[in-house]
Amino acid sequence: MSSLFATAPAHAQSAKATGDVDLSARLQAAQSDPKLNESLFKTGRKVAAFCANCHGEGGNSPKADTPNLAGQNPAYLLEQLRQFADGRRRNEFMEGMIKAMTADEKVGMVLFYAAQPVTPKPPTKPALVARGKEYYGKTCFRCHGEDGRGGEKFARIAGQQPEYLTVTLKRYRVGQGVRTDPLMAANTKLMTDADIDAVVAYVTSMP
Ligand code: HEC
Ligand code: HEC
Repeated sequence: MSSLFATAPAHAQSAKATGDVDLSARLQAAQSDPKLNESLFKTGRKVAAFCANCHGEGGNSPKADTPNLAGQNPAYLLEQLRQFADGRRRNEFMEGMIKAMTADEKVGMVLFYAAQPVTPKPPTKPALVARGKEYYGKTCFRCHGEDGRGGEKFARIAGQQPEYLTVTLKRYRVGQGVRTDPLMAANTKLMTDADIDAVVAYVTSMP
């Protein structure tokens, strides 16, 4: 399959767009080989020019319902690409988009976005943010970190777009449909809509 973005092969042994390329292994190879890293990063930057239509320049989304990709953790991003590809996570546009990407474009965009800074949002509604902080400190921090930046296995959520966060948390709470995850289902099951509003206000305000 040829690429949507007309990027040149990033390396002599460029990974093809076949489903059997191990994306995690390719990412690890790039992380320990500065030359490969640099060429895949360039590929990723080219791809990102297309994604910018919705996800914004450098992955800081201009739309409240579209996620930032800036500062997102590499392993999490790759896992979401896998979930869109195998139907565990549903979004018609993203599913089509990912089918058209080569393995190197996927790994390249992950390297590119992970390195982009998140633009902090001006603080709003201090009382709601304080309530959200209290809730966050009871559970969410255990996986997403005190600073909301997640880790190797967990998503960065600090500074994420508010509408996207609200919709996502409500999807997990339902426990079935376009996006599910057992850990997040367990952690949202008891949240009221008011809890979600407060946590979203806090998480969005995190730098
Ligand atoms: C037409 C708009 C649009 C374009 C263009 C687009 N995306 Fe998306 N993307 C979305 C929306 C909307 C979502 C949120 C889907 C959902 O969960 O409801 C999303 C979600 C994602 C996610 C999951 C993020 C997370 O935090 O879980 C990734 C990764 C992603 N897109 C990567 C890309 C890449 C890479 C490109 C470019 C090759 C791209 N997108 C182009 C609209 C777009
Ligand atoms: C036990 C670990 C754990 C706890 C506690 C937890 N999460 Fe998560 N969270 C995850 C995992 C794993 C994922 C990725 C799930 C997937 O692939 O859809 C995730 C994903 C998310 C996402 C989606 C990120 C994105 O970019 O789309 C949001 C938002 C989120 N969590 C918010 C929260 C909030 C708010 C809390 C507290 C109420 C919380 N999480 C508690 C493990 C956890």
